[in-house]
Amino acid sequence: MPFPHLFSPLQLGNIELPNRIVHVPTDISSSHADGEVSERDIAHHGDIARGGTGFVIVGATTPDMKTGRPTVTCLVADGDNYVPGLARLAESMHRYGAKCAVQLQHPGRQCAIPRYNTLGATDRVLKLPWSAGHEIVYENAEEKGKEIREASIAEILELVDLFSEAAWRVKQAGFDAVELHAAHGYLLSEFMSPFLNMRTDRFGGSFENRMRFPLAVVGSIQKKCGRSFPVLVRYSFDEWYAGGRGAEEGVEIARVLERAGCAAVDLSMGMQESPGAGFDPMQYPQGWATYAAEAVKQAIRIPVITSHSLRDPEYCEQIIAEGKTDLVGLARQLLADPYWPVKAQYGKVKSIRRCISCLGGCWQESLMAKHEIACSINAACGNRAYADMRRTTKPVNVAVVGGGPAGMEAARIATERGHRVTLFEKDAELGGAMLYVCLVPGKEKMRWYLDWIRDQLLDLDVDIRLNHAPTVDELRGFDLVLNATGAWSFVPEVAGDASRVVPFEEAMACPKVACECHPGGRKMRKLGARVLLWGDSYAATDTAAFLADIGKQVTIVTENREFAADCEVIHMYVLRKRFAQGDAEVLHSRPYRHPVTVITSTTVAEIRAGEVVLQGADFERTTLEVDDVVTCHTRPDAALFEELRAAGVRVLNVGDSLRPRNLYHAVKEGSAFGLAVDENLLFNPNGAILDDLPMDVLAQLTRDEGPSYTAERMKELMASASR
Ligand SMILES: Cc1cc2nc3c(=O)[nH]c(=O)nc-3n(C[C@H](O)[C@H](O)[C@H](O)COP(=O)(O)O)c2cc1C
Ligand code: SF4
Repeated sequence: MPFPHLFSPLQLGNIELPNRIVHVPTDISSSHADGEVSERDIAHHGDIARGGTGFVIVGATTPDMKTGRPTVTCLVADGDNYVPGLARLAESMHRYGAKCAVQLQHPGRQCAIPRYNTLGATDRVLKLPWSAGHEIVYENAEEKGKEIREASIAEILELVDLFSEAAWRVKQAGFDAVELHAAHGYLLSEFMSPFLNMRTDRFGGSFENRMRFPLAVVGSIQKKCGRSFPVLVRYSFDEWYAGGRGAEEGVEIARVLERAGCAAVDLSMGMQESPGAGFDPMQYPQGWATYAAEAVKQAIRIPVITSHSLRDPEYCEQIIAEGKTDLVGLARQLLADPYWPVKAQYGKVKSIRRCISCLGGCWQESLMAKHEIACSINAACGNRAYADMRRTTKPVNVAVVGGGPAGMEAARIATERGHRVTLFEKDAELGGAMLYVCLVPGKEKMRWYLDWIRDQLLDLDVDIRLNHAPTVDELRGFDLVLNATGAWSFVPEVAGDASRVVPFEEAMACPKVACECHPGGRKMRKLGARVLLWGDSYAATDTAAFLADIGKQVTIVTENREFAADCEVIHMYVLRKRFAQGDAEVLHSRPYRHPVTVITSTTVAEIRAGEVVLQGADFERTTLEVDDVVTCHTRPDAALFEELRAAGVRVLNVGDSLRPRNLYHAVKEGSAFGLAVDENLLFNPNGAILDDLPMDVLAQLTRDEGPSYTAERMKELMASASR
């Protein structure tokens, strides 16, 4: 068998884990509003167990809903009425041979609910825009922050009881273990942190005092559930923040927890003040956190779980074989592909859809937006429609125009379902807007997805026509057309010489004339030293990162009040640090030669040779000397779509050619098209495909209508009956 260490069993407390793969807790925020287990929770965790994960730790579940829910629809375990639902959840994983646990978490200062009277270790005002628990609903919420109230001793003691009662319910429900969330700045972690805990009573100050609350919870659970019921603790080995915990205390905590009778330690990193370390963005390399497990393993004998950016079975196998860890923890990887373990077991490593750490689907579009879980590259995550996906018995001919992420995903799903797909791409390579990611420092992981989906299309034998922009006449012969032609930059109306403005696509200049991504070559513009980027969103952030990295002096001008407000927050946190010539926690990139300046609420009013005139929201004008102006304004390229519609061709429009957005939307819409392609080819008046119609309605819409049921017809029927 490939990966013998990864697939060997391990004893954890009194349970035997079938293999070394752990689903580290991921709050999928998909429960019912009252915290009851939903069918989505059951299906999601059941899929992960079916995929072969040996130990599934269900994400943040609060022991006290009234004082803290980390996300608006996280799980709750603060009443006995939650036991039946939790039992069904445990059963959904046991049936596939997995062991399972629930992570109990009180979010403290980082709660999404309640909004006011927020409980914390210390009185504080919290301004952490990347936290799902940071209230962002109100005007000026960012500046005002969220007020936190210090927990009283009575409240701490009550919470000790509430935690252990919740653990008892987890045990009653049939889970094999319970985990305490003492990482990332949530309540237990806040008490443990030398930086966050500013108390002066017996719960603050010395290491012993800071550990008092979590240890009291561990002790109370052991009393209520018995010492044989395994208790794990997840904590941040290093807080990656000045004044916060470092490696020495990280090891000491493991020793203390082992002495307290814990069954295992689950090592994580960072807190909300160091968000990159907690929610690794793309730039963080695989294995960056392994050093922590290695250090802890030398100090304790109970099993150690390491996680953070683990993506390759080969690497996971290696660190277990080398004794650096006992177990490997995957969180986002199992959102992107819950079948990672079984694919590794069968040696199908190339077919694993590796998580690209974009945080676009699972954080930005889900928990930050108060939506249920999703993934940018796996439309099936959080969407049960894909579980019922079936092959068609009557294939239709589908043309997909545009080989970007929306078009490729549409082609993949429609072909998997048995339809005949022809994919047209006007360039010499598939990828669309993703093709230039190799030029953007830190975005290299995007290529993983690109390579994966291109390989899938090849394996599926999709008819791919490169260097081919089809005409309306060519497309008439297809039963159905998908327009996925993407977006293109444009120059807004401006006084002066608009012809001087460079499209951002031509500013992203690959030093190779014809590279792997652009085998047919590409039009490039050489830019001067001082570049003004005009616009916003990913076009601007990517172009800025590229140009600043090659030494240009970049100024960004945006009409918006905040720059890149629709971009993923943790990546923006990293990028802002880079703009200021610094770097995020774990990274040590070469600083930009010049800081990047961002000017908000401003537009370009006039373009002259060697300078631009800027106009602010107050209409005040200033002049800025620049060598080049690059536009990062984008708009849909929907010309073909409109032509096809006018010609009466059955056509749908998805992705950026509908509205320029991110990868999450492109993949979601492309894949929804693939799922909806239906042999009946009926459309409703909104222009949407009518798939999956009830049998009788389908028949009514498709069979010839006979005579109406009139009095005359009744007479005819009666006459024929009497004969
Ligand atoms: C959507 C989302 C929800 C998360 N929920 C939890 C949680 O409930 N408890 C927890 O300890 N960590 C949580 N994390 C952190 C992950 O467990 C993990 O430490 C982090 O994502 C890095 O590991 P990965 O690269 O394997 O995803 C969450 C992360 C994400 C992206
Ligand atoms: S949205 Fe991005 S980071 Fe999140 S699981 Fe999917 S690929 Fe990974």
